[in-house]
Amino acid sequence: LTPQDMAGKRVMVTLGPTREAWDGVRFWSNPSSGLMGAALAVCAWLRGAEVTAICGPGVRTRMPQGIARRDVISARDMYAVAASLWAQMDVGMFTAAVADFSPKPIGGRKFKKAEAPQGFSLDFQPNPDILQSLAEKRAPGQKILAFAAETAPDMHALLPLAHAKLGRKKADLLAGNLVNCADSGFCSPTNSMAVVDANGREEIWPNQSKADVAWELCSWLLRM
Ligand code: PMT
Repeated sequence: LTPQDMAGKRVMVTLGPTREAWDGVRFWSNPSSGLMGAALAVCAWLRGAEVTAICGPGVRTRMPQGIARRDVISARDMYAVAASLWAQMDVGMFTAAVADFSPKPIGGRKFKKAEAPQGFSLDFQPNPDILQSLAEKRAPGQKILAFAAETAPDMHALLPLAHAKLGRKKADLLAGNLVNCADSGFCSPTNSMAVVDANGREEIWPNQSKADVAWELCSWLLRM
C-alpha cells in the first residue's frame, strides 16, 4: 500500500514547456514533455496530496482524474494560473521549462517569407519568473521544489550551479538535471540529478526513472 504521508497537503506542479507566439502561426519554445512533472503530480497524489497540475502545451501524459489539470500556453498564462492558486497551496513543485524570454510579436497574421528575403531579427522581452515571484510572496510553511535544466560536463559540475540557483530562486529543494545527454532531461523517461537543499545538503543520484526521482524528491521535501 502507498503510504499516505502527503495527505492533507495541497500541491501545485508546473510542467511542460511554454509557447511564446511571434506571429499568427509560429512560436518560440523547448522540447519539455512534462514527464518529470507528471511523475511528481502522480506521486504526490498517490501519497494522499490534493494536486493541481498546471500544464504547458503538448503535455500528453494522462494523469488520474483525481488530479486537477489546468492547461496553459504561454509563460504569462502559466504565471497567472500559478499566482491565482499559490495562496491555497502547501507545496509548489516547479518542473516547467518556462521560456525566460518571449519574442515581441510582429502581428497576429502569418509573416510571409517574401517580406524578409535577407532574413530578419526578432526582439525578445523577459517573461515573469514564476517560481521566484511566488517564492518572494510565500507564506510561512509553504515549501518550494525547484528544478534546473543545465548543460554541464558531468554531475559534479552541476552541483555548484544547483547551489547557486537554489539561492537565487529562494527554493527549499532544487533538483538539477543534465540536459546534454541522451538518458536525462527533456523527453527522457529517466533523469540524472544533482539535488541540493537550503540546509546545505547535497546528493548526486545516478540515472533512474522519473517515477523514482519523484518518489525520492517527495520524501526529501517531507523530511524538511
Ligand atoms: O518535461 P520533461 O521532458 O520530463 O523534462 C524535464 C525537465 C528537463 C523540463 C525538468 O526536469 C527540468 O529541469 N525543469 C526545469 C527547466 C528549466 O526551465 O530550468 P531553469 O533553470 O530555466 O529554471 C529554474 C526553475 O525556475 C525551474 O523550476 C523553472 O520551472 C522555474 N522558472 C524558470 C523560468 C521562469 N520564467 N519561471 C519559472 O518558474
